[in-house]
Amino acid sequence: MMTKPTDLIRLGKSEIWITPIGLGTWSWGDRLFWSYGISHSIQDVKDAFEASIMAGINFIDTAEIYGFGGSEKLLYELLKTTDRELIIASKLFPYPWRLSTKSLIRGLKGTLKRLGVESLDLYMMHWPLPPISVEKWTASLVRAREEGLIKHIGVSNYSLSQMRRVQEVLSKHKLDLAASQIHYSLLHHPPEKNSLIQACHEDQVAVVAYSPLAQGLLTGKYTPESSLPKGMMRLGNRSVIKRIQPLIVLMRQIGERAGGKTPAQVAINWASKKGTVPIVGAKNRRQAEENLGSIGWSLTDDDVHDLEIASSDIKLAFPMEKLARS
Ligand SMILES: NC(=O)c1ccc[n+]([C@@H]2O[C@H](COP(=O)([O-])OP(=O)(O)OC[C@H]3O[C@@H](n4cnc5c(N)ncnc54)[C@H](OP(=O)(O)O)[C@@H]3O)[C@@H](O)[C@H]2O)c1
Repeated sequence: MMTKPTDLIRLGKSEIWITPIGLGTWSWGDRLFWSYGISHSIQDVKDAFEASIMAGINFIDTAEIYGFGGSEKLLYELLKTTDRELIIASKLFPYPWRLSTKSLIRGLKGTLKRLGVESLDLYMMHWPLPPISVEKWTASLVRAREEGLIKHIGVSNYSLSQMRRVQEVLSKHKLDLAASQIHYSLLHHPPEKNSLIQACHEDQVAVVAYSPLAQGLLTGKYTPESSLPKGMMRLGNRSVIKRIQPLIVLMRQIGERAGGKTPAQVAINWASKKGTVPIVGAKNRRQAEENLGSIGWSLTDDDVHDLEIASSDIKLAFPMEKLARS
């Protein structure tokens, strides 16, 4: 029986323990969505990494699609600068030209090469997109594990019923699902996400929450007058920014009462309090350090309730999720 190291969270039923927040690396090397090279440099990324791991963060999330391999390559350079034991998670994107499940092993080998590792701690299917069924992709993940290329299997953006189908395949191989990564924040907590979280807790599957800051909206840095962030596919538009202002005011008040916490720290703490491991994107040292201030304290149950009431009417459109259920 494994004992729980202080403050760490077990990755499913595995031997791996991760910190209560992880570091998201989508923006590292990604020009298209996150303006890498314009809004942040390699030095900024190095600083964000250093600040995070010096504070003890051990869980890092990447994907082959982030910067089309750029994030994984940057991570490889950064991993060389530390001897800390880090838990690295990556994902395979079901590109439309990936018409055979054999492409998973090929894609995974590309990831391993870019990261400079022989085996990955956690590997996930990025999206359950058609045409290949979740069962077939899962069988490929099992094969990757049998070949020693990955230690644990996860899913990302899967609904509860899709996750159940994955678990059924895994159970035939006496394997457990280690993690389910979901889009989850104060601006995206529909009831079905809460049922999924509950099911994960019952089955001891770690819930990893992505975009916990709603891609910056929940930091409070945008006002209806300020300019919008550049880059494709950002979550907010001017109307959303206008509608979230009362929520931001409440987050500031709650943060003040909690000892001077910022809206970003309140947003991340909320996601932790809901039983998830938020993976937070940071482009530079300042952002990483602020985000680290979300751990080591806790919102009250009343705060959580008030935040959810204040955010319940604001819905962010996210077409990819619809596509993944089709
Ligand atoms: N599985 C999936 O499909 C999926 C999808 C999305 C993300 N993810 C993972 O989850 C991670 C986090 O999600 P995310 O990057 O989309 O969104 P996020 O963590 O909600 O927001 C990150 C962005 O917010 C801004 N920011 C971060 N900290 C800040 C601070 N303290 N003050 C002000 N601005 C701050 C930065 O962008 P600016 O400076 O440009 O504002 C940063 O890139 C990703 O990096 C990735 O690893 C997974």
